[in-house]
Amino acid sequence: MEVKIYNDYQGLSAQVADHVIDLVKQNPEAVLCMASGDTPKLCCQLLVQKATSENIDFSNVTFIGLDEWVGIDATNEGSCRFFFEKNLLDPLRFRQSNVRLFNGLSDDLDGECERMDAFIKGAGPIDLMIVGIGMNGHIGFNEPGVSFDLYAHVAELDKTTTSVGQKYFNTAIRLDRGITLGFKHLMESRKLILMANGAKKAGVIKKAVEDEVSNIFPATVIQSHSNAVVMVDKDAASLLQNSLSVAANK
Ligand code: PGA
Repeated sequence: MEVKIYNDYQGLSAQVADHVIDLVKQNPEAVLCMASGDTPKLCCQLLVQKATSENIDFSNVTFIGLDEWVGIDATNEGSCRFFFEKNLLDPLRFRQSNVRLFNGLSDDLDGECERMDAFIKGAGPIDLMIVGIGMNGHIGFNEPGVSFDLYAHVAELDKTTTSVGQKYFNTAIRLDRGITLGFKHLMESRKLILMANGAKKAGVIKKAVEDEVSNIFPATVIQSHSNAVVMVDKDAASLLQNSLSVAANK
């Protein structure tokens, strides 16, 4: 695992966007998986700008959404699907047949997990997976205590997730379960980027990078991946002591 530190959120987001652009230039049929949320928002905007100005064709790229809130309608602005469609899939004109997002309203959530696993098995492995980190160390909805041996699954949400998650919604909402890719998918991806910005993420980044790998703090899983990069701004890196840290100064 490598750690790369950027001066600010803008620089960090531009670098992650460049990773995606480079991947698609090399392989127009790449398989990309991303998280939604506040962290990747600017990266998505910059990616759309760069792809548009460089005329890069995303119509043969496969896109997989990392997770979804169970019970939340796709028209709800807080849903992951809404985020992906608005920020990435519509502007970059992904082909619908190349996109797989969880349906959090499905009355057969186990089947939904099986369909996602089958889709990734058919289209994968995932070339690039870009994830964030929650305030409890989750990645996707892989909550503290999660088994590292899971593919897609439904998760009971941790209290931190249900309260922090309110920020995505216009009105207070009941959140109790999520549907998510599992750490087997993470470990099988060819490249994994964990991105984080801001001082509020400094504590969780320190734990993810420096604590022993354990499901008590799920994001420590990144240390076990053979091609993982933790990409953070200076604020999120401010508590890191480890010599692995490399100032990228972008
Ligand atoms: P955020 O969410 O990007 O909105 O901070 C991260 C997460 O909970 O995974």
